[in-house]
Amino acid sequence: MPRVVGCVRSAAGTGAAVAILVVALAGCGADSPSTLDPAGAGARRVGNLWWLLFWISVGVFVVVLGGLGWAVARRRRAGEVSRANPTRFVVWAGALLPFLVLTGVYAVGLNDLSALRNAPGDGPAAGAPTVEVTGHKWWWEVRYPATGAVTANEIHIPVGTTVRLRVRTADVLHSFWVPQLMPKIDLIAGRTNESWLRADRPGAYHGQCAEYCGLQHAHMAFMVVAQTQAQFDAWLARLTDPAPAPATAAQQRGLRVFEQSACASCHTIRGTSARGTVGPDLSTIGSRWSIGAGAAPNDAGHLGGWIANSQTVKPGNAMPPQPVPANDLPDLIAYLRSLR
Ligand code: CUA
Repeated sequence: MPRVVGCVRSAAGTGAAVAILVVALAGCGADSPSTLDPAGAGARRVGNLWWLLFWISVGVFVVVLGGLGWAVARRRRAGEVSRANPTRFVVWAGALLPFLVLTGVYAVGLNDLSALRNAPGDGPAAGAPTVEVTGHKWWWEVRYPATGAVTANEIHIPVGTTVRLRVRTADVLHSFWVPQLMPKIDLIAGRTNESWLRADRPGAYHGQCAEYCGLQHAHMAFMVVAQTQAQFDAWLARLTDPAPAPATAAQQRGLRVFEQSACASCHTIRGTSARGTVGPDLSTIGSRWSIGAGAAPNDAGHLGGWIANSQTVKPGNAMPPQPVPANDLPDLIAYLRSLR
């Protein structure tokens, strides 16, 4: 995960600014992705808008509190009559000034909205990949239509390249969000939404479903990996080649267990008889960043627990407990771990 630096650059002296900073800092752990640490043009625009609103709010707050302090501190002597015109003050400070500030902010926001719709420059280059993402309860199906590559919960892109993004949902409303790269885009039943994705520096960027979609909404995460063109090409090629053949006797037995159990009716492993389409494609499960779309770390122990009863890890997900005999489970794990 990328380090989050410069999440909040300076502290303003007022109480409200401190309160806002506390709220902002609460979302800025060492590992938490932040819109305020952008790594792509889309998120940078959103981050700049955030800072603009922040500093305008600080300015307004300071002026209002300053005026209040002045009014409290100022004592009028007995019998003194104010020469100020209260009506004129209310008109310019209470109506005109807020109108100008809010209209200005609205104009900037509208401009950003329309700019975010269009990819930078002339849009995705001719050879740039297209990524198709389908939201499921609760995981992400990822396809590269040009090559037929399929994976889940992990999107790789070449760094510095604008990638076309198409999103749709297989069930309910979801929202695709990579805080450091791009704003949210909704996945709406019956339609395909288009956007673009671009990372200006290499790294792994956390993505998250940003629309409440049921019990495991929080465990509907994904990872966007931005890498060099050569690394990306190699990764994509692995997604179209058949999955690696078992290299050991244990892995061989594991494959047999997979093909003969219920696993194969829901999952696909390329190059084997397992061609299910209900759950995620598992052809590269061994190298993925997590199990269950961020529900558990991807290691042998968690994988075994997931196979035996994923309902204890991610209650409500579509995979029922698998009665794999205890003798077979280590082989099955060894095989799945070898799929990279
Ligand atoms: Cu999908 Cu929240």
